[in-house]
Amino acid sequence: MAEFHPLEFDRLPEDEMQSRARDFYQSIKNRRTVRDFSSDPIPDGVIEDCLLAAGTAPNGANLQPWHFSVVRDQGIKRKIREAAEEEEREFYGGRAPDDWLDVLGHLGTDAEKPFLETAPALIAIFQKSKTLDRRGVETKTYYPKESVGIAAGFLIASLHNAGLVTLTHTPSPMRFLNEILGRPATEKPFLLLVVGYPAAGCEVPEITKKPLAEIADFH
Ligand SMILES: Cc1cc2nc3c(=O)[nH]c(=O)nc-3n(C[C@H](O)[C@H](O)[C@H](O)COP(=O)(O)O)c2cc1C
Repeated sequence: MAEFHPLEFDRLPEDEMQSRARDFYQSIKNRRTVRDFSSDPIPDGVIEDCLLAAGTAPNGANLQPWHFSVVRDQGIKRKIREAAEEEEREFYGGRAPDDWLDVLGHLGTDAEKPFLETAPALIAIFQKSKTLDRRGVETKTYYPKESVGIAAGFLIASLHNAGLVTLTHTPSPMRFLNEILGRPATEKPFLLLVVGYPAAGCEVPEITKKPLAEIADFH
């Protein structure tokens, strides 16, 4: 039998709702993917709190089908860079279809990934196909991809809110992360998040976001 307790919820005045919604948008719209990182270290505890925030995400049957491996060790970062560049050289050197390379063109990306060594932290996010349920019994997970995607969104927003920048990186395939980080085969690498501060003079591609009328309709 499930046990219940009263929800903690404070209903806000309408003008405060408006201003909070606007303030969050004003902040999150300044998030940009960064590909040129400084090596400045991140204060202890910041990433930990952002991971706690990610771990609050809604998810299938509350099985929380995610694992986050935080890498600060220079030697491990180097191994990840070497393995990622090997995959990326194949990707850019022939495996990627022309139409994919075509839409990537304006971002100026290539097989060189120095940021995997320069940035102070990498967070490898794994999607678990199996986990222990609340009774400690091993179970299959439900909607793991959707769940991990939402947790990754919470994490990226939390890191931005804490004054850090990120790169959502997906060297494909990413199975090398299981080997390097010692994660079991039931965990599939989902994203490799590069975390830190922008290098001095860092530039980002000029891009636009679709207006509201193009991404939503109201009935
Ligand atoms: C699932 C996913 C995978 C991505 N993979 C890469 C990647 O491997 N390399 C890269 O440079 N950027 C990658 N990006 C970043 C996107 O290119 C970037 O989010 C997009 O161009 C929009 O730019 P913005 O994040 O600055 O708004 C990825 C983003 C997502 C969500």
